[in-house]
Amino acid sequence: MNQILFRTMTADDARFVAELELKIFAMPWSREDFFREMRNELAEYIVGELDGRIVAYAGAWVSFDQAEVMHVAVDSEFRGQGIGTILFGELIKAVKSRGATSITLEVRPSNTVAIKLYESFGLKSVGRRKGYYLDNGEDALIMWNTKL
Ligand SMILES: CC(C)(COP(=O)(O)OP(=O)(O)OC[C@H]1O[C@@H](n2cnc3c(N)ncnc32)[C@H](O)[C@@H]1OP(=O)(O)O)[C@@H](O)C(=O)NCCC(=O)NCCS
Repeated sequence: MNQILFRTMTADDARFVAELELKIFAMPWSREDFFREMRNELAEYIVGELDGRIVAYAGAWVSFDQAEVMHVAVDSEFRGQGIGTILFGELIKAVKSRGATSITLEVRPSNTVAIKLYESFGLKSVGRRKGYYLDNGEDALIMWNTKL
């Protein structure tokens, strides 16, 4: 595999990211949603490109010293090769450079691959939101790392 390059997401990426989002998530954000994020001062979004094609993206909102992860995704064709791990590491680097010292997110308890990935970055499950996911009523696990 050629080297994957990470950079900040731009408004021009919104179309491509929304296409991936549609393939990956049960409740996808639209192109307009990502476009809006590019104007959100709290938002920090990155993409991973392989040979000029976006294959991964991640984003978080950073408010004071706290980062809340909104997206972490790798194109299904490219999973299981370590890209998700590099992506999440790059997101943490980006939010830390904006002053975040803690990071939190919600994840489906059934998403064992993502949970394992987050645990490898020191996030721990600290609670649940009952029936959080509207598509199937699944709870969300709340994960935190307060010592970035
Ligand atoms: C979660 C996700 C980003 C992981 O991306 P990825 O590129 O496959 O991740 P990696 O290859 O870096 O693997 C991360 C860990 O999961 C393990 N893993 C990856 N795919 C796996 C699989 N199918 N079964 C079991 N373990 C798996 C890896 O071995 C690795 O663990 P290790 O560091 O102990 O070896 C990706 O699966 C994805 O985009 N899923 C759909 C979107 C999603 O659920 N996002 C998270 C929402 S909270």
